[in-house]
Amino acid sequence: MRTIGVLTSGGDAPGMNAAIRAVVRAGLAKGFNVMGVRRGYSGLISGEIIPLDRHSVADIIQRGGTILRTARCEEFKTEEGRKRGANILRTFGIDGLVVIGGDGSFKGAQLLSKLGISTVGLPGTIDNDLPYTEYTIGFDTANNTVLDAINKLRDTSTSHERVSIVEVMGRNCGDIALYAGLAGGAESIIVPEKGYDKDKLCRTILEGKMRGKMHNLIILAEGIGGAEELAQQVEEITGIETRATKLGHIQRGGSPTCMDRVWASRMGYRAIELIEEGKSSRVVGVRDGRIFDMDIDEALSVPRQFDEKLYEIANALSY
Ligand code: ADP
Ligand code: F6P
Repeated sequence: MRTIGVLTSGGDAPGMNAAIRAVVRAGLAKGFNVMGVRRGYSGLISGEIIPLDRHSVADIIQRGGTILRTARCEEFKTEEGRKRGANILRTFGIDGLVVIGGDGSFKGAQLLSKLGISTVGLPGTIDNDLPYTEYTIGFDTANNTVLDAINKLRDTSTSHERVSIVEVMGRNCGDIALYAGLAGGAESIIVPEKGYDKDKLCRTILEGKMRGKMHNLIILAEGIGGAEELAQQVEEITGIETRATKLGHIQRGGSPTCMDRVWASRMGYRAIELIEEGKSSRVVGVRDGRIFDMDIDEALSVPRQFDEKLYEIANALSY
């Protein structure tokens, strides 16, 4: 009987547990032994490997975070570290590994597959910054968390007739700002892909006030600067009281939305099908609204494309 492993790596994301559950249950159903590697590549190198059965993944589909824990591991970026990881996997009889994580974790999986371990990557990151796929596990839940915060900030900003600048996560990817900003009716969305002009921003705020806007919500993606600093500048230029809110890590937690649970389950199931079909060095994703898989080398070389149309729509509707 073949044995496969599953690990979560990099920043956690709501829906990772649903993906683990799918990998374990689909794996068992198809006759594999399934082992969980704790604490990402760090736990792999130190041999933190546990058997997983149906019960180990009971009652987790609704939970945020990852039951396997996650970590960042510098040692895995070295050839020696990866060889150690591959040897540990062989020691446990594991010849297929499902890696749930972001682009860094995928790079690790790509290099691990060159050492003879079959790997399948599932995109797990709130940032939605893996260009080969339309969707990453955790993105929807994070957007809804941001949306909830924006709704609340809108209340207090309106009462005080203030400008509110909300800093969201995304590393160098503005997708959370774009989606949550559009859905939350933000007046301005600032993302690293587009940059911004401070004077134009302040003029828009002042013009909005003249047209009777009671508040002004600005969503700022973290990759382009800090909300606090921008708030000070905006207040100085416009003379309107401005507050900054950095949402931070609350965006990474919480019970996953239906969408995250469903995609995570479908992706986890597909990962097992791929291993069963003898395919390696693959990543699973969503294209045109459907599950698909592609070679990991190709996936990691897909250039990022910002959704210009959505940005145009968000700007047009915020007037
Ligand atoms: P994410 O997977 O969310 O993008 P990171 O970029 O922090 O998160 O990557 C997670 C882990 O993946 C790193 O701590 C490291 O162990 C591994 N990793 C990242 N980049 C590489 C690389 N170039 N080579 C090998 N392993 C890598
Ligand atoms: O990958 C998700 C992410 O939340 C990024 O948006 C953010 O920059 C980073 O992780 C922060 O992660 P940590 O605080 O865990 O290092």
